[in-house]
Amino acid sequence: DEADLEARIVAARETLGDRVVVLGHFYQREEVVRHADYVGDSYQLAVAAKRHPEAEAIVFCGVHFMAETADLLSGPEQAVILPNLAAGCSMADMADIDQVEECWEQLAEVLGPLDVPDADGLLPVIPVTYMNSSAAIKGFVGRNGGIVCTSSNARTVLEWAFARGRRVLFFPDQHLGRNTAKEMGVALDRMPMWNPHRPLGGSSAETLVDSRVILWHGFCSVHRRFTTAQIDRARAEHPGVRVIVHPECPMEVVDAADEAGSTAYIREAIEAATEPTVFAIGTEINLVRRLAAQHPQHEIFCLDPVVCPCSTMYRIHPGYLAWVLEELVAGRTVNRIEVPSAVADPARVALERMLAARP
Ligand code: 13P
Ligand code: SF4
Repeated sequence: DEADLEARIVAARETLGDRVVVLGHFYQREEVVRHADYVGDSYQLAVAAKRHPEAEAIVFCGVHFMAETADLLSGPEQAVILPNLAAGCSMADMADIDQVEECWEQLAEVLGPLDVPDADGLLPVIPVTYMNSSAAIKGFVGRNGGIVCTSSNARTVLEWAFARGRRVLFFPDQHLGRNTAKEMGVALDRMPMWNPHRPLGGSSAETLVDSRVILWHGFCSVHRRFTTAQIDRARAEHPGVRVIVHPECPMEVVDAADEAGSTAYIREAIEAATEPTVFAIGTEINLVRRLAAQHPQHEIFCLDPVVCPCSTMYRIHPGYLAWVLEELVAGRTVNRIEVPSAVADPARVALERMLAARP
């Protein structure tokens, strides 16, 4: 039962001491977060993975692409462990490496060689991938002059890309790409969406030449559930409510909200509020519930009345955490995530560019 699992995790952690670091994403359930040395957004956890060269293992309570990123940024001898290998991310799966490479070839047919700068020193297109993508995609980006972003630095990263290229190819999340580019003043008609099943992604050559940001067709199944009707209702029922949503939400939802930001942004906004405030939040329910419990002076609720968890994050059950820790105690490393070096080297380049671009 729950108390038994709790005791097993605590006992294993005591035995292991500094040999292991446990990282937990904000969307993890309470029974897991409780045992994490660091809880954060995907950017913060990537940085945390770099900070513990003394630990022989990093147990990553999050999803597969985050554990891959931790493997890329941690030391070569360190093992990164994902307690349940079935914890993936449906959005990350929407950018398939073969489709992205095919897209790149087709863009070269329209825009000319993609590695040759124009008279202003700008490349035709810079690939930018959201952290929520496979290591193979990050490797593609690193090999082709591109960069990784997270929801907390997407604007800084797009500025980095526009300083080097005429256009950006952004994947997998169309919403983060559109919301960020729109905020920067890019017109919607200069953001065609690439459909991998159609020639030239379904756009004309002129549209692609005129584009600023070419979007990919991915989305987050959790965040696309949020609607403007939910925001209207929150405002009608709670006059003065502050509506904050994650930028993975659709554009009209972000436009109707008061603010949009990463999970770390949402938490900081609530922590910084000095007056008792009503917050309606558009992100995953485990984080919203934890924030509500931690800040009883505020009223904090999720915009979606039907519970809206990330089902793959939820696959990190405390039972798996207990198991991987007990295996480490027994001298066995299970569920290790290791990115092969042919992919890891260029992927690391793309990640390090992101870490250096952050102001
Ligand atoms: P952040 O942690 O960067 O806010 O991203 C949210 C998310 O969907 C993680 O998969
Ligand atoms: Fe992926 Fe969405 Fe879950 Fe984040 S919340 S891990 S983007 S499915």
